[in-house]
Amino acid sequence: MCGIVGYAGERSAKDIIIDGLKKLEYRGYDSSGIALCTGGSLTVRKCKGRIANLEEAIAKEQLGSGLGIGHTRWATHGAPSDLNAHPHTNGDGSIAVVHNGIIENFVELKEWLARDYGVQFRSETDTEVIAHLIGIFYSGDLLDAVYKAVEHMRGAYALGVVCSKEPDKIVAVRKDSPLVVGLGEGCNFIASDIPALLKHVRRIYLIENNEVVLLTKDEVKLFDAQRNEVKREVFHVTWDADAAEKEGYDHFMIKEIHEQPKGLYETLHRRLDENSRIRLDGISMTKEDIERFSKVYIVACGTAYHAGLVGKYIIEKLAKIPVEVDVASEFRYRDPFVDDKTLFIAISQSGETLDTLAALREAKRKGARVLSVVNVVGSSVARESDDVFYTWAGPEIAVASTKAYTTQLMCMYLLALYMGSEKGVLSREEYDSYIEELGRLPELLQQILDQEDAIHQLAKQLYKRQQVFFIGRGLDSSVSYEGSLKLKEISYTNSFAIAAGELKHGTIALIEQDTLVVALATQDFLFEKMLSNIQEVKARGAYVLSIAKENNEGIERQSDHVIYIPHCRDELSPILTVVPLQILAYYVAKLRGCDIDKPKNLAKSVTVE
Ligand code: M6R
Repeated sequence: MCGIVGYAGERSAKDIIIDGLKKLEYRGYDSSGIALCTGGSLTVRKCKGRIANLEEAIAKEQLGSGLGIGHTRWATHGAPSDLNAHPHTNGDGSIAVVHNGIIENFVELKEWLARDYGVQFRSETDTEVIAHLIGIFYSGDLLDAVYKAVEHMRGAYALGVVCSKEPDKIVAVRKDSPLVVGLGEGCNFIASDIPALLKHVRRIYLIENNEVVLLTKDEVKLFDAQRNEVKREVFHVTWDADAAEKEGYDHFMIKEIHEQPKGLYETLHRRLDENSRIRLDGISMTKEDIERFSKVYIVACGTAYHAGLVGKYIIEKLAKIPVEVDVASEFRYRDPFVDDKTLFIAISQSGETLDTLAALREAKRKGARVLSVVNVVGSSVARESDDVFYTWAGPEIAVASTKAYTTQLMCMYLLALYMGSEKGVLSREEYDSYIEELGRLPELLQQILDQEDAIHQLAKQLYKRQQVFFIGRGLDSSVSYEGSLKLKEISYTNSFAIAAGELKHGTIALIEQDTLVVALATQDFLFEKMLSNIQEVKARGAYVLSIAKENNEGIERQSDHVIYIPHCRDELSPILTVVPLQILAYYVAKLRGCDIDKPKNLAKSVTVE
């Protein structure tokens, strides 16, 4: 949540920062701002709304400066407004701060600063407190003032700080919110995430927790919490900047939906050796470790949590280890039963979700072995895990997660197969047959993408519905949660997912004439039971859209419309079943005129509690 960019160099800081912020807009987009060191003073410009608003507001101003910081905001403290937008400054305007995170003790600090220093606050934000704190501790050395200020702060933060009295410096700090430094020739950068910098640099420092950065155009120094200088290896970014562009698609979301066959292929093949055996290169988990695990916890948020629900089913079935799945924000506060025989699996696209990170730390503290399934290389979750199983989805920019989900599922299958085979509870024939079918999934998924036009036409009939129910049994029930989330988050349709067998225990009261029910019926062994559930809602007047496998045409008699997915074994169908739901959600949102890649109130990376 929130994106930070800072630049020191010879070129126009304003242009570089605005451009970088646009690449970070997925992190938050309710207001933005910039602070530039201009001739011995700071020029701060900020406004409510998208970065385009800021750009327009300052387009005609001559803001010549080679050093500055900028911010795109996702509001936590105080509504989106010009005043609450970052950067925030101290009393005399000599210090400006951009901040990603939350200062938990800001009320206490605010009272202290007002009482003892007579500070008058202009905004409702927690961030303004930081600017005043640094201002109070400033006596000619910005680095020193920042160190002193952070001693008083509790919470999560990545900060970028500039001071008019030291106009060649940016000081940055990281605690539990992401921060990277870009290393250029005669210029250097800070940012919340690598895509903001890819146009300019490929050499990156990944900043660790509690580290402080002192940056000028010619030099970058890193210090630990005790002010000792630390050395860091340069991280070379190999992926393509174009991977984070729309390439002719109207939205990142639909582009990313179409990238799923490639993501699945990469995620699978990077883990298979020439004999089609799964190899876990770089993962230190041994056969003995696997045999010792008495339990697995899968912990994640949102879509990643939904991938975990499928993971539970698959790991229990193939590796015969009991699995619990928990949303990270609950796990961390419920004293879960975790010990050194526990395998803790964190799933996260961004690798920066604060609740997931905190849950991971809690599990580690209790002795669990931590393996993460992560998309963003070098992210916090990846760095703090014992082992990392990367998804090879490529950068996911749209807020609504699509290719991350299907590649997370691929990782779940590979892990379950690996553990089952190492434990000796899975026969060689079964293993081989799963691997073969996994290999066919990219092609089968492409067959669903080929139905895009038909799903678009269907969306034209359905997009005005105010309320939608998603039902399914077994693995279909896990996918129904994801289908429902996709629809609600981008089209603002009130949607609700429930295990089909649970309907009659209350929720069916809401089904009336023409209520749209999306019935997932891809599990062969539960097919008959699903038909009964479909009949129950049909009897109450529902309009039923069924998702079924190609060999189950009989479902047409019970449904108003059917989307078919290619035939595959029940256990693997979630990777396919979710795709028509993603496409449907996309077109419903498009027809409703929604801002698909940046839905209201959301952000791609949730780095606050
Ligand atoms: O980056 P993460 O996978 O940890 O993010 C977790 C959720 O915030 C995320 O999956 C969210 O639910 C999706 N963007 C929804 O599409």
